[in-house]
Amino acid sequence: MHDLQDLLHQAHALGKADTGKGAVARYIPELSKADPSLFGLSVCYLDGRSWHAGDVDVPFTLQSVSKVFSFALALRERGMTVFERMSCEPSGDTFHSIVRLEEEKGAPRNPYINAGAIKVSSSIPGNDPEKKVDALRRFMGRACPGWDFPVDEAVRLSESRTGFRNRALANFMAHHGVIQDPAAAVETYFRQCAVQVTARSLAQLGLFLANKGCVPGTDNQIVSVSANRIVVSLMATCGLYDEVGHFAMTTGVPAKSGVSGGILAVVPGRMTIAAYGPALGAKGNSIAGMRALAFLSAALELSVYA
Ligand code: DON
Repeated sequence: MHDLQDLLHQAHALGKADTGKGAVARYIPELSKADPSLFGLSVCYLDGRSWHAGDVDVPFTLQSVSKVFSFALALRERGMTVFERMSCEPSGDTFHSIVRLEEEKGAPRNPYINAGAIKVSSSIPGNDPEKKVDALRRFMGRACPGWDFPVDEAVRLSESRTGFRNRALANFMAHHGVIQDPAAAVETYFRQCAVQVTARSLAQLGLFLANKGCVPGTDNQIVSVSANRIVVSLMATCGLYDEVGHFAMTTGVPAKSGVSGGILAVVPGRMTIAAYGPALGAKGNSIAGMRALAFLSAALELSVYA
């Protein structure tokens, strides 16, 4: 048995050494204020044990990691109708690409690219963006009791002021009848992206995903076993955008990243790992997080493809 705290410190040191090679996201102005040298790593096992290294208590916004939770909630509430006019295939394009939407008549490729997530957000229960995201935050609270998941208003506003490309995606989908109210859909999406977590809370929040949809140690079935399998499968195939193949080779577990520098990795039946490092590599994923996860995967034999 490895000393996990020791391994985690090694993984953290490796990641931290790489932070200087990346850059924080700048296209959402508020995100550019993040300190690129931050790096935190949290590991939670299904049996309740957890280990932490580095900046695990620094709040950051979920950004695209929110797409996993909104998709889980939408699947729970709407079942397989979420796949009406949305596919489940990797896009091979950047997360905000509009190219395939043109070719595929406004139907997004999957729920984890921006277009798909905007469509999914619009189907969350609630009459307006605030109520929808409140429903999402309550859902997250049930999955992770004891934590609050506030909306970072500065980040929400910053993205809302500058999110022209996401508005284009929403308008394009509305043109094709894929969504009805594009303005509300993007505002819901911006708000859910601005929900705050820490590496520590994110690792705990994700545990149900590693445990067939049930919060470990409870009978709290957050989503059905089959819905959970769908959420996690698409993390494996679409969770890191156009770096997903590389991540499959180096790390080999389902994961979801966000441009604020968060990555949630799920090892089915075993554990979750949350990384937070705002310096991003060329494909928009946390450079330190990617390095540390590859190291931990090798050391703990985590790859589901091994
Ligand atoms: O829509 C955006 O551009 C951001 N709110 C989220 C994008 C994101 O996190 C993509 N992840 N790598």
